[in-house]
Amino acid sequence: MIITIDGPASAGKGTLAKKLAEKYLMAYFDTGMVYRAVGLELVLSEKDIYNTADAKNIAENLTFQKMMSLSSHPDFRSDIGGRAASVVAAIPEVRNALLKMQQDFALNPVFADGSQASGVIYDGRDTGTVVCPHADLKLFVTASSEVRAERRYKEFQEKGIVKTYEEVLSQIKERDERDEKRSAAPLKPAEDAIILDTSNYTAQQVFEKVCKIIDSL
Ligand code: DC
Repeated sequence: MIITIDGPASAGKGTLAKKLAEKYLMAYFDTGMVYRAVGLELVLSEKDIYNTADAKNIAENLTFQKMMSLSSHPDFRSDIGGRAASVVAAIPEVRNALLKMQQDFALNPVFADGSQASGVIYDGRDTGTVVCPHADLKLFVTASSEVRAERRYKEFQEKGIVKTYEEVLSQIKERDERDEKRSAAPLKPAEDAIILDTSNYTAQQVFEKVCKIIDSL
């Protein structure tokens, strides 16, 4: 089985995907990692994140192992990594170069220890529209920008990162704008996606809702 979960930043896709993967013994692919890996490598090699040729070259040479190794860098998940990822993700050549690696994961889905999984849960922006248009279930998980900013702001507070709510909201809006307005695979629900607005639900309520959908397939 293949499930795709797309939606804007901080909508709760990752939390939902991980819980579903655990319950249904499926492998999980957070596809934002491929763009974060390319963006971070540009930053670490002190290259311009807007340089298409450099970004394409890094994307073409990215391997799964390289991506996993970059993922332990402190800036992989930071604002620096997130911003660089969102810039390179708007470059069509970068997206093309990274497509096969994402699609190949579904051919032989395995867990980190090499054991076989019963399927894959993809999490990203275009996994239902471009990466896996033939998925068995496509979800588009969203929430208002204010609710997403509030969630992200709380996460920062818990981690001791000092930021105002207004700063977080403005970063979320900037990221949405770039993800939605880019010409290459803009963020939008697949025509056959189920849209879940999580603004008024807890993560547990969303999880239970989706389990019911999966169990009825
Ligand atoms: O989900 P994330 O914050 O890790 O994603 C980082 C960036 O990568 C984000 O700006 C959108 C982009 N992205 C994308 O364009 N397509 C995907 N399938 C996943 C992420």
